[in-house]
Amino acid sequence: MSFSCRVAGYGHSLPERILTNEELSELVDTSDDWIVERTGIRSRHIAGDADSSSSLGAAAAMNALRVANIDPSEIDLVIAATCTPDGMFPSTASRIQHQIGAECGAFDINAACNGFITAFSSAAQFIHARTANKVLVVGTEVLSRIVDWSDRGTCILFGDGAGAVVLEAGSDDGPGKVFPPFLGSDGGAGNLLYAWGPCASPSEGITEDAKIIMDGPAVFKYAVGAMADAVESALKNADKSPSDITICVPHQANERIIRALMERLGLPMEKAFTNVQSYGNTSSASIPIALSEANSDGRIKPGDLVLFVAFGGGLNWGAVLTEWG
Ligand code: ACO
Repeated sequence: MSFSCRVAGYGHSLPERILTNEELSELVDTSDDWIVERTGIRSRHIAGDADSSSSLGAAAAMNALRVANIDPSEIDLVIAATCTPDGMFPSTASRIQHQIGAECGAFDINAACNGFITAFSSAAQFIHARTANKVLVVGTEVLSRIVDWSDRGTCILFGDGAGAVVLEAGSDDGPGKVFPPFLGSDGGAGNLLYAWGPCASPSEGITEDAKIIMDGPAVFKYAVGAMADAVESALKNADKSPSDITICVPHQANERIIRALMERLGLPMEKAFTNVQSYGNTSSASIPIALSEANSDGRIKPGDLVLFVAFGGGLNWGAVLTEWG
């Protein structure tokens, strides 16, 4: 079984400011060598005062609409994945909808770094149910605003940015398919990676100043196993095997995690697209930014079987396969 829909457009947007490992090593006790060896990350983009998840998301959305050659007025629904929304409400998706001049419903999804896969899967279901024809899916983050800049275990990892795709209904025999996704969650292990917000009960954590807290090595171990299992389930849903995968566009958290995942899947590293070197972990934005760059680099062609796989706070993880149209 599959849903007939295709990615009609893709785009991304990054804040101007680039923060290098060398600059970070003036802030905390770390070094370029350590960060590159343990994560593969060399630099990341950091939001300026005028940037927000909605402004970066709207810019990425306009780029995706341009590639799709679709006017904002044609969009039936905006879904924004973010764990760093502009506020508690209105939703970041509503603000993006207004900023791009679309006239349609809009809502946010928060599944941390698995946000884009959750949003993309939801969009495909709306299209499959024929309640929408063209859905704008945005992954957008300003993680620098919830990073503890005195914690060397986390501040080296994260970056800001946004990516977007336009998902469009296709004809049953036309190009482009999305296969049924796999989504997993283990709220019981949520204490391995979290950032409390202003609505947390006072007994659960500091509420005014939400910062990312993470047990890095535990998350690393959990991530590789959960993502490998998610891919296995997504392949089963699609009646495919690992060798059918043309390219894997994984969540860009750490190059070592991606390498370990590809090994577990029995796939060569050349089949994975990585850009974590330049952007760090941009959570919900990382897959759509990577997808946008992979397309611009000519890495994805019609008929390719493209795998998205991610893992993040929640804990949450997921995988979805799409046949490029
Ligand atoms: N620079 C130098 N030394 C450091 C740094 C740093 N930036 N950070 C930690 N160290 C030290 C530690 O203190 C420790 O020292 P010790 O041996 O004297 O105690 C040593 O380096 C090893 O630390 P580990 O934490 O064991 O290092 P590890 O190899 O596990 O790498 C890392 C840490 C990069 C955080 C890794 O565990 C990781 O990538 N984890 C997963 C992160 C992730 O994917 N998160 C999921 C998504 S995030 C989301 O959903 C929002």
